[in-house]
Amino acid sequence: MKIVFTSDTHRGFSEKTYKIHQLFLQKMSEENADLYIIAGDLAVNRQKQFYSSLKDLRNFLGKNAKICIVRGNHDFQDATFNHHFGEWNIHQKSFKALLSRQNEWFEQFEIIHLQKNSIKIDDLLIVGFDGWYGFTKGETLSLYQELKEKGNKVFIPSDLDRLTPFMDGVKTYDWLKDTADSEFLRTLNEVKNFNNKEKTILVTHMPIYHTDDKYILHDGDITKFNKIAPYINTLIHGHSHLDLDFNKNDVRVITSGSDYDKPKYKVLNF
Ligand SMILES: [Fe+2]
Ligand SMILES: [Fe+2]
Repeated sequence: MKIVFTSDTHRGFSEKTYKIHQLFLQKMSEENADLYIIAGDLAVNRQKQFYSSLKDLRNFLGKNAKICIVRGNHDFQDATFNHHFGEWNIHQKSFKALLSRQNEWFEQFEIIHLQKNSIKIDDLLIVGFDGWYGFTKGETLSLYQELKEKGNKVFIPSDLDRLTPFMDGVKTYDWLKDTADSEFLRTLNEVKNFNNKEKTILVTHMPIYHTDDKYILHDGDITKFNKIAPYINTLIHGHSHLDLDFNKNDVRVITSGSDYDKPKYKVLNF
């Protein structure tokens, strides 16, 4: 079985991005893979970038291609930076609406969102979840936000400034973190039940292990990796933008190595 995967293509990064993606997707389609995996960060800061990326994936890879995806931190944003006021202007006011529009797009382009549906092809199980678990200290972030709301000048990781801040009264980043935690547990149960390490692939956007990589701003949670490692053969993740392929606790950890306008994919044969 031939798997092709990529991540961090970040549509909207520059004026050249769109053209680069056309060539990149054409090349990817020529691989004729049995499965295509996209490990998040398709967009930079707008939902229209996410939408057009999904549309192009389907158009270029063809109507019969199996495509699955997890979302990255950038895929939850819909905001542009206002240089005059020096702050982010958030376009999508309802985070819930943003999520439901994305679900419609997944259906429209028949793209499998791994957080909702894991897939089995032949005897292989592919599971995944989006993950926002990098912000491990939700309390600290709530404190930042409170201070900021009171008019204090505080540094908040920039991703948070670009998010629609509330969903039904719940702070969006708390929701993202809680969802990541519960989705992790669901995934852990699924791979435990499947119980075939050699035939299990996990896909996440952020790394689920601690790293000193300075490009990974959102530190992973080592406890998550250690809990799930006994049940998975391979972890495919994005976010880092570094080209990684190494062994950790008997798991092959691999990234595509895509970095903004330099998209790359890798081929895995199982
Ligand atoms: Fe990225
Ligand atoms: Fe990312």
